[in-house]
Amino acid sequence: MRDWFDHPETGEARAKAMSLDAAGLFLDYSKNLIDTPTMAQLFALAREAGLEAMRDAMLGGAKLNASEGRPALHVALRKLDEAPLEVDGVDVMPAVRASWKKMAAFAAALRSGTWRGATGAPITDIVHIGIGGSDFGPRLVTDALAHLPEARFRLHFVANVDGAELERALSGLQPESTLAVISSKTFTTLETMTNAASLKHWLLAGGVPEASLDRHLIATTALPENALKFGITADNVFEFRDWVGGRFSLWSPVGLTIMLQFGAAHFEELLAGAYAMDEHFARAPLESNMPVILALLGLWYRNFLDARSCCIVPYAQHLEWLPGWMQQLDMESNGKAVNARGKPVVGLATAPVIWGQPGTNGQHAFFQWLHQSAEFAPVDFIAAIAPAHSLKGAQAPQHQAALLASCLAQSQALMRGQTLAEAMRGGKPEETARHSVFHGNRPSNTLLLPRLDPYSLGALLALYEHKVVCQGLLWGLNPFDQWGVELGKTLAAPLMRALGSAAELEGEAAKQDASTAMLLRRIAGKH
Ligand code: F6P
Repeated sequence: MRDWFDHPETGEARAKAMSLDAAGLFLDYSKNLIDTPTMAQLFALAREAGLEAMRDAMLGGAKLNASEGRPALHVALRKLDEAPLEVDGVDVMPAVRASWKKMAAFAAALRSGTWRGATGAPITDIVHIGIGGSDFGPRLVTDALAHLPEARFRLHFVANVDGAELERALSGLQPESTLAVISSKTFTTLETMTNAASLKHWLLAGGVPEASLDRHLIATTALPENALKFGITADNVFEFRDWVGGRFSLWSPVGLTIMLQFGAAHFEELLAGAYAMDEHFARAPLESNMPVILALLGLWYRNFLDARSCCIVPYAQHLEWLPGWMQQLDMESNGKAVNARGKPVVGLATAPVIWGQPGTNGQHAFFQWLHQSAEFAPVDFIAAIAPAHSLKGAQAPQHQAALLASCLAQSQALMRGQTLAEAMRGGKPEETARHSVFHGNRPSNTLLLPRLDPYSLGALLALYEHKVVCQGLLWGLNPFDQWGVELGKTLAAPLMRALGSAAELEGEAAKQDASTAMLLRRIAGKH
């Protein structure tokens, strides 16, 4: 790659040809191990595989999620135009708009203080309970936008069934001024239901009368009957449809906490950014289609250059949760070796391992590996140009300059590397200089957001959603199901019985493999 860039003419042509704008985002993909003819072949591959038709089918509401017999229509949740979108001959948009309206009315009441706790105390804290797709999205977005002046409440996210997380979240909170948003598509998930039950107990034990629990308990779910059974009143249930996949659900009522925190207008801006990316994805030719380009580059590294993983490094502390959100998005969608028709995928690698953490912190953890290990991982650098802080003082601008300079320097170092001759400059002895040889030629994308605002964030998250879906479709997978998470859930049930009751321990242990039985007995203090 350094040869391409060492010649100003080829370098400039490359930077120009391999960069583009979409929905307010700027992508530079020129620091990739790929040339224009190979990109052209990848676009041809996508066409031959029928990517455009599959994309159109998804956006049009076709039942692409065949193993669950439903469409994947998260785009309907941010469709801000007037056109209908039909599933089984029924336009889904009126229900989507009604749900926005209900969310906005509740957000206005809560934010204005009209909605109060059982004692009349204003709500100051929101505890969001959910896991996986019912947690990552709201957690990521509320953290990413925490610097907005409209941020209204103290937020506490609880996902883990480890009671330590709930206990920490509740410490210092008063039941009378706390609202819980229980978010679960199924309203059956072990972690969420366990945390929700403990939270309910905490409210009752803290003096909230049973009859007034409705001032404190809200549900977002695709199965309202389960929320009602749990004791949530019908008015407090925010419903969405089963065609919203969990990891694609932050745009649905699962994102209610986002709206409560920042207001309906900012939530709409988030949707508008995603909608702009949807429109770009739907209409731009493959050659200038940002999600498609990212998908094909990922395919190139995974299937042709054998990259096992993909590293996500946001140079923005507020995007701390982006790698986690992306892990679920990518690995739960495409971590599969069975294709959409139920046949084994043979000889074709699918989802890479997704990992990363914010820069500059990552530089002091895993960047050594990125620069000098024998393996490589393509990196996505993601940065916002404007700062997301309001520090004052003469040195304040240094934060953003240092942050962005570090981002650019790392992608440059990965691309250029350092030869032995360069390392020996300045009189370093060869033996020592050998440690400072960097192979270079390590690929990266750089994505720039103008600032961390709802619109740009919406566009960014929709970009990655479409990238992952494109890859899944190109690999012949169904990127919308997740059968691989079921077995562990099923096996946990008898183990819970064994650990929950001394009387059941031996009976259950006897049915387990020797390793699991030994561990059960050890945990129960029997050996
Ligand atoms: O991890 C498995 C999974 O089913 C995810 O797909 C989903 O986002 C998460 O559990 C939570 O599910 P629910 O929203 O139904 O509680």
